[in-house]
Amino acid sequence: MILFKKLTDLRKWLDDQQEKENTIGFVPTMGALHAGHISLIETSVKANRITVCSIFVNPTQFNDPADFEKYPVTIEKDIAVLEAAGCDVLFLPSVKEIYPDGVKAVRNYELGYLETVFEGKYRPGHFQGVCMVVNRLLDIVQPGNLYLGQKDYQQCMVITKLVELMGASQKIKVNICPTLREADGLAMSSRNMRLNETERKKAVTIYQALSMMKKELQQGKLKGLKDKAISMLEQRGFRVDYVEIAGATDLSLPDQWDGEQKLVALVAAFNGETRLIDNMALN
Ligand code: PAJ
Repeated sequence: MILFKKLTDLRKWLDDQQEKENTIGFVPTMGALHAGHISLIETSVKANRITVCSIFVNPTQFNDPADFEKYPVTIEKDIAVLEAAGCDVLFLPSVKEIYPDGVKAVRNYELGYLETVFEGKYRPGHFQGVCMVVNRLLDIVQPGNLYLGQKDYQQCMVITKLVELMGASQKIKVNICPTLREADGLAMSSRNMRLNETERKKAVTIYQALSMMKKELQQGKLKGLKDKAISMLEQRGFRVDYVEIAGATDLSLPDQWDGEQKLVALVAAFNGETRLIDNMALN
């Protein structure tokens, strides 16, 4: 695996490869890699001649400075697991390399409704920051395939929209990969490293609440089901940001289920100091 810190060096190397457009697979990450990230790398390695992973803890997407400060960094281990997974290139840029004009120059991406719900609502500015960094990374790497995890359901929709806004939908295929879970069902996440033993044990409640909604989904009103999931979480001491059942393709918020519409349940809740998110397709 080759490690690049400078975008000009990475770009020169990629140009020298003289590969066809869709042979570069790209997996953007913020590091503290776990098996979920590695599953994206492995999927890319199988389908592309070259796989590029980036590790960059993007300051512009953290609405909470404390969350940014506490974000786990495990770079030595990350390099080892990327190498073992067959990743070809690691791009490890500095903040200056990504944001030469500073981190304040927020561009206004027209995300519309997508930004007004769930993570957009509870983390103001978060998706603008995600778009800023992913736009920059896509301009640098110019991949044919981009790999994202369904774990961040709304982020997948936002980045798909960003690729459209960039006019790059023909060039860049967005591939959405399934959520990898721990043995008890907890969605893998870099933030899980911050949980103490007690918090780690009860973290599975999020998966249990999602599974309950999937099992008990019935035609008609959805409020009872959401309320039941909220009480499951609150009884175990979670501070719930949201539990919602939304249209799987547009994140619309139906009151009732007609028995046909594809639905996804989404949860964000604080387990102690750590905010966790997860989602599950219900039907
Ligand atoms: P990060 O949280 O490091 O996640 C990088 C990629 O791994 C994302 O596409 C995410 O959805 C995926 N991922 C995380 N947990 C997963 C799991 N349990 N199973 C499968 N995939 C999983 O998401 C970001 O970084 C950033 O917002 C980024 C897109 C890199 C922009 O800064």
